Amino acid sequence: MSLPPVIAIDGPTASGKGTVASLVAQKLGFHYLDSGALYRLVALASEQEGIDTQNASELGILVPKLMISFKNSQIFLNGADVTEAIRTESIGLRASAVAVHPEVRLALVDLQRSFRQFPGLVADGRDMASIIFPDAILKVFLTATAAARAERRYKQLIAKGISAKLEDLLQDLQARDARDSNRGTAPLVIAEGAKVLETSDLSIDQAVKTVLDWYQSAIA
Ligand code: DC
Repeated sequence: MSLPPVIAIDGPTASGKGTVASLVAQKLGFHYLDSGALYRLVALASEQEGIDTQNASELGILVPKLMISFKNSQIFLNGADVTEAIRTESIGLRASAVAVHPEVRLALVDLQRSFRQFPGLVADGRDMASIIFPDAILKVFLTATAAARAERRYKQLIAKGISAKLEDLLQDLQARDARDSNRGTAPLVIAEGAKVLETSDLSIDQAVKTVLDWYQSAIA
């Protein structure tokens, strides 16, 4: 019997891939994997345990010990609801730092693949198409200019009542882009066969519709 279909959506930080991926999953009735949340959980847990982001071996030992669960849109770490706590800029930067280590990435492979269940999965991250689901039926590289992404992040934070500086956000996301793209293991790349979706001038609805159209063509 064939495996459930996967739509892999990769892209840089704040490209809107999380929003697009979860809406595509909703429309198709598919499961959804936010793989970035897993790296954010490792970042939070390592901070709580006082483990340095450069200590690859201790981080590798920490990951299998974490009790991670997803309930609807809530995320739990060792029983505590950390849905909000993992979304801060500092945890995002820390996630990018712990994600460079092969020890951490390897420890998360099986967990990510366990999300592949019928009727299908939409997975978003940096290496969904290249490493985790290389046989994905549709591979999308979703991106936008750094300026457009910084502005989106800025608006999200302000809407939540969190103060932010556009310039700082732009610098942070450029630092994360550089680290995510230049690391030795599973760097952010446009996977072979991936379709590039430039969203700087697209609405969320337009981006979702494009992915759904591509999926229909892929299964036709
Ligand atoms: O998508 P995000 O911003 O929530 O991801 C946070 C960090 O996690 C990102 O800067 C790099 C890392 N990450 C990764 O290395 N591989 C993935 N598949 C997803 C995220």
